[in-house]
Amino acid sequence: MGDPSKKPRMEDDGLVFPPNPYLKKQEKDVLYHLGLATDKDDLPALFGDVKFVCMGGSPTRMKRFAEFIGKRLGLVQKNGSGPKDLCSTDRYSMYKVGSVLSVSHGMGMPSISILLHELIKLMHHAACTDVIFTRMGTCGGLGLAPGTVVITDSAVNEMFQPVYQMIVLGKQVNRPTKLSREVAEEIRAAYEPGAKYDVVIGNTMCTSDFYEGQARIDGAICDHTLEDKIEYLKAAYDAGVRNIEMEGTCLAAMCHKSGIKGAVVCVTLLDRLLGDQVNMTPEEHDEWEQRPQELMAKFISKRLKL
Ligand code: URA
Repeated sequence: MGDPSKKPRMEDDGLVFPPNPYLKKQEKDVLYHLGLATDKDDLPALFGDVKFVCMGGSPTRMKRFAEFIGKRLGLVQKNGSGPKDLCSTDRYSMYKVGSVLSVSHGMGMPSISILLHELIKLMHHAACTDVIFTRMGTCGGLGLAPGTVVITDSAVNEMFQPVYQMIVLGKQVNRPTKLSREVAEEIRAAYEPGAKYDVVIGNTMCTSDFYEGQARIDGAICDHTLEDKIEYLKAAYDAGVRNIEMEGTCLAAMCHKSGIKGAVVCVTLLDRLLGDQVNMTPEEHDEWEQRPQELMAKFISKRLKL
């Protein structure tokens, strides 16, 4: 198969080949945080038909998505029991409904990064083909009405660069953050005009922190001024940023490096140009949180020609 560390293989045959030459030499692979292993679980039988890996921060939200997509696809379990958590650890939760995997990724890049390593390997071991990875989340908006859904065009870091930065062997590594424009357009096309909310495509800024990292002035610590914050957020807006969250660049870079199509779809909980505190009503929160899920469900139904 050539040197998989050089070239992702997705374009060739739809299979996933993680860009790590050492994996081939391993007798078995333990996906520690998922609680799965190649020597004890029949991964092709359990996961071989997966086409859509849908991720979101909270376990409850991803269980709800599994139930929701199950109803949409007509795959509700006959005995009425809800979807079963396939993770045997309590680090993440993972539900499978037909060709959809609904997985919680926790908060922030370190958490989603660990999950993505194991999910990418899972797709490889299970011989899945043509998989799409998406994150459905919440975010702060810039100049948008709260409740607007933003589909990410370019995922950028705090300096507005389309780069995911990490430290490996004590050195800074920069990886490009490329998402699938085609998938983003297809998700937007699933939106039905007349819905109660708008859907826009824009750049998404990904930060390592919710408070100071997102220029908030309501955290426990703040060394910048309100004026600094507004100046920075306006510069972000001028760079095409329409929303701010904490996982997008990591997902974009890891999917791109592994030859997997990725997309990020988030609903804005507030307009960050107007404030910092997230204080919508629980009813609004519940309804808004559903919006990326509804859009993804329509996208998946269309892809499956249902
Ligand atoms: N998630 C974030 O990362 N930021 C917000 O402002 C809201 C949700």
